[in-house]
Amino acid sequence: MSRLLLALETSCDETAAAVVAEDFGVRSSVVSSQVDLHARYGGIVPEIASRAHVNLLLPVVEEALDQAGASVEDLDAVAVTQGPGLVGALLVGISAGKALAMARSLPVVAVNHLEGHLASVLLVDREAPYPQLALLVSGGHCILARASAPGVYQRLGQTKDDSVGEAYDKVARMLGLGYPGGPAVDRLAAEGRDTVGFPRPMLHEGYDFSFSGLKTAVANYLRATPSFVLEDVACSFAEACMDVLCAKVEKALEEFGDPVVSVVGGVAASPILRARVEALGERTGSRVLLPPQRLATDNAAMIGLAGWLRLAARGGKGDELGFGPVPSLPLSWGP
Ligand code: KG4
Ligand code: ZN
Repeated sequence: MSRLLLALETSCDETAAAVVAEDFGVRSSVVSSQVDLHARYGGIVPEIASRAHVNLLLPVVEEALDQAGASVEDLDAVAVTQGPGLVGALLVGISAGKALAMARSLPVVAVNHLEGHLASVLLVDREAPYPQLALLVSGGHCILARASAPGVYQRLGQTKDDSVGEAYDKVARMLGLGYPGGPAVDRLAAEGRDTVGFPRPMLHEGYDFSFSGLKTAVANYLRATPSFVLEDVACSFAEACMDVLCAKVEKALEEFGDPVVSVVGGVAASPILRARVEALGERTGSRVLLPPQRLATDNAAMIGLAGWLRLAARGGKGDELGFGPVPSLPLSWGP
């Protein structure tokens, strides 16, 4: 029987636990969202997030073990998110993971949240050839990278200001759609047309991104156009984002000729982005890997997958227990 790992993810406002087998089988993945707790503040309040993680983590772990039909005695390893994220929120998961590992004499591995997102496509195809191109689009990050092997990344570009998810959330707020707004903007966009023609920032400038000016363009348009059509504004904004993301991916595919491109992170849950990159893959003959939609946004299953990769790279040895949260932990670039 494949060995089992318990993964914990508490970097932001989702309290998540998952049981993942060494053969990358996800036995359970439980995500408890704190959205309701933060909604009335229009964004995440770090102190509230930490306290909620304290209250939610044990029930979420119990539920994950329950759904996997496993008990603590069946576990062979523990993986926790070390960063990037909110320091207090990360600390809750790290402390719980270490305590469990100590109590059961299990190895514990510290996982980079971004590597977790990148590992989420292992569920779709673990045999895909390298080098691969990877676009990571989430609430906190917008990164285009190349992987020469699992876990070995070289950054091509990243956002100079807002991430694309952040721009989605801010535009949602302007449109009165609440928090988090990405999915709501996306739903409206599907019913609209690109009638506005917002700017496509840095479209032809290398591999870096910028979404802050686009957000301002939306604000200016809304101020100047009292009779705006909600669906069309959402669609025009989404199309501008997608055009930029897809253009950079296509440029990198042309330059490097990588046979595989994965698109991961919360924004990869967007049906609009998924359809656009699938079409791009067909046009360029590249294989496109997208995580299952519910594992695109934050979850612990992806931390479990990256945890097994890290354990294998370390010969099965866990991390020393002295590690702590690293709020701005970068993606490890290259060997
Ligand atoms: O990866 P994630 O869950 O958390 C971070 O690591 O940041 O990404 C969250 C981001 C949010 O900005 C949210 O608005 C966006 O992903 N998002 C979406 C969709 N679902 C989530 N953006 C566009 N369309 C969606 N369907
Ligand atoms: Zn994330």
